Amino acid sequence: MNFQTQPVCAEPKLCMDNYLPKIGRRAIVNQILAGLCCKKKYISSMFFYDAEGSKLFEAITHLPEYYPTRTEMGLIDEVARQIGPQLEDTDIVEIGSGDCSKISILIEMIPEHVRNSIRYIPVDVCQAAIEDSASILSGKFPRINIHGVVADFISQIDLIPKGKKRLFCLFGSTIGNFSRNQAAEFFVHLGKTMQPGDQLLLGIDRVKKIPILEKAYNDSQGVTQEFNRNILKVVNYLTGTDFDPTAFEHLAFYNSIHDRIEMHLKASKDMAISCPHTKSPITIGKGETIHTENSHKFKDKHIENLSHNSDLTVQNILTDPNNWFSLVHFVK
Ligand code: TRP
Repeated sequence: MNFQTQPVCAEPKLCMDNYLPKIGRRAIVNQILAGLCCKKKYISSMFFYDAEGSKLFEAITHLPEYYPTRTEMGLIDEVARQIGPQLEDTDIVEIGSGDCSKISILIEMIPEHVRNSIRYIPVDVCQAAIEDSASILSGKFPRINIHGVVADFISQIDLIPKGKKRLFCLFGSTIGNFSRNQAAEFFVHLGKTMQPGDQLLLGIDRVKKIPILEKAYNDSQGVTQEFNRNILKVVNYLTGTDFDPTAFEHLAFYNSIHDRIEMHLKASKDMAISCPHTKSPITIGKGETIHTENSHKFKDKHIENLSHNSDLTVQNILTDPNNWFSLVHFVK
């Protein structure tokens, strides 16, 4: 027998804006081909996240070797206890939202009367990920308003709904996937779009012993390899190329000069990749690599550098006992 009272509004309150078409297919194709036709080949990590890539990444977050997600979740729980009661009427904007597991922890900690007044705004390049997470969230919290935004959060951050006080969340050390310069620029830009009183929770992965870092990106089950190779399927879909993902080996290692994990795809043979948009095939020699990701790790000086040029102030830094991961709470 169920003695629970029914929520007044059991209907999920969801709307969705998709701004990706504004960028245009042609611009995307040009961006990808520019990276594949230059001397040191690269593909932007934004193209990891189609529906399949988002699922694979979610699987990565559950791997025993991938410590960042569970470490960060403990910190989110801690900060949510502190700030949850003050979030009345706030828009919670999660940039690069992926699945909803992290925001669930935060929302869970918000007292119910406050929770019913907030709106959750997930921003991601993957519409399927937003839809899936919205449906899970509205199952858990039936009265919550959700406004999904499908967008490239680097170039389209100004399109995120404004008007209320906002709590921005950039979890998962996503900021580490930018170059240090891009991260600084993005941070200044984010600071400018924020209004006085707005807050930001920024998750960052710290510099630590190299074997711990390298294992996190070379899991024993090969999920990270599959995730890395999946980017070639996305490229095939978007540009009409005929990459065979299995002809590439997953390569992930720590670069101590730049304090970052680098991910590459290494060709296991000579290849000529046909593409309807190029006059001749794209050639790749055996052993040649395509750079697919950087994951910069942070020291205190990197956090200071980030906030240095922006008009955001550090309110609090939460770090786990191992000193592996930090959640930095900024206010404007
Ligand atoms: N921001 C995460 C990180 O840098 C996301 C990520 C990108 C990732 N590529 C990955 C995680 C490959 C695991 C494996 O860790």
